[in-house]
Amino acid sequence: MNDAIRSGPESSLQAGTPQLSVIVPTFNERDNVATLFRRLETALAGVSWEVIFVDDNSPDQTWDVVRGLARRDSRVRCIRRIGRRGLSGACIEGILASSAPCAAVIDADLQHDETQLPKMLELLQAGQADLLIGSRYIAGGSAESFNKQRAGASALATEVAKRVLRVKLADPMSGFFMMRRDRFEELAPQLSTQGFKILLDVVATARGNLRVKEIPYTFGARLHGESKLDSMVALDFLGLVLAKLTNDVVSLRFLLFATVGSIGLLVHFAALYTALEAFDLPFPEAQGAAALCAMTSNFVLNNFLTYRDQRLRGLAVVRGLVLFYLVCSVGLFANVGVAFSVYDQEPIWWLAGAAGALMGVVWNYAMSGLFVWRKR
Ligand code: GDD
Ligand code: MN
Repeated sequence: MNDAIRSGPESSLQAGTPQLSVIVPTFNERDNVATLFRRLETALAGVSWEVIFVDDNSPDQTWDVVRGLARRDSRVRCIRRIGRRGLSGACIEGILASSAPCAAVIDADLQHDETQLPKMLELLQAGQADLLIGSRYIAGGSAESFNKQRAGASALATEVAKRVLRVKLADPMSGFFMMRRDRFEELAPQLSTQGFKILLDVVATARGNLRVKEIPYTFGARLHGESKLDSMVALDFLGLVLAKLTNDVVSLRFLLFATVGSIGLLVHFAALYTALEAFDLPFPEAQGAAALCAMTSNFVLNNFLTYRDQRLRGLAVVRGLVLFYLVCSVGLFANVGVAFSVYDQEPIWWLAGAAGALMGVVWNYAMSGLFVWRKR
């Protein structure tokens, strides 16, 4: 048996430490968590285990239900995260909060098959693999509960992952897996906390240095509640592929921010034209109004796309918008300042313009992240 994941009397230090930590990310799953806990109890009889629910401050107060379970059974723990959203980030935090040698990730809604866990644990402890994946797409597995659209999207993403990231797995999109915690810990600093595809991230980041085995299972139907996957996960997926392809140099967030900025330029011209032609405003007023329109539309788009995981709501939107105006106004000075000094050295209009624009977008991006959509 492998040293790092050995358990038993000879490692007295480990007394009281479970062999397996089960990590369950939750968002609005209050009606599912108790059932999942009971099923884990049945499936893992004879194993020393714990379960860590990582809840992103669910409006339905899932964390409160979990806390109730935890008061009755010390194998249950709850991490309630405030001001953060994201499946991958929740899983990472959960695994890092455990000290069991083996960690599994399973959804709360009972779509994954918890009865596979003992088999996975056995293979992991026997040192036959570093990572065991619950797979829908090998013989014996299936995803019958998927509708046509979801099945198509899943197949497409799987193909892209295989070809572009050269991941040799039947089901790299799976959200059900178990791995050695020490191996996870090595990779953790390079993993993305954004998005849904934690397993793909783990495998792509490890670059072939993990021994992986897939175990077939049937992806079932959700017990209660609804899926949190929306069309935006496509964006997250794209971001992950981009990041892994460019060795984490290009971040999707920055690309989105810059794209929104380019859209803002179009908005600016459209508004300027309208103000001049339709409202007959003098140029300075028209230019000011157009800039205000562009900044507002940039703010809205960034709030929905670029920073959707930290989306501002309610009163925070007003505060954010005012701060965004401020950030962008300073950004404009930086833009013009840099453009002027470049033009002074080298009077090439497009070079000076591009240098100014780059300065502006980098400034706006950095300052927006610090002040407008800041992590709490
Ligand atoms: N903490 C936290 N934060 N948990 C989340 C969040 C979040 O932002 N979003 C979703 N979850 C939790 C859900 O509560 C659920 O327990 C689990 O993550 C999976 O979310 P679902 O919304 O049920 O996703 P799905 O069923 O459509 O897709 C799942 O299964 C696929 C197949 O294995 C996911 O695990 C996919 O990643 C996976 O490909
Ligand atoms: Mn689900």
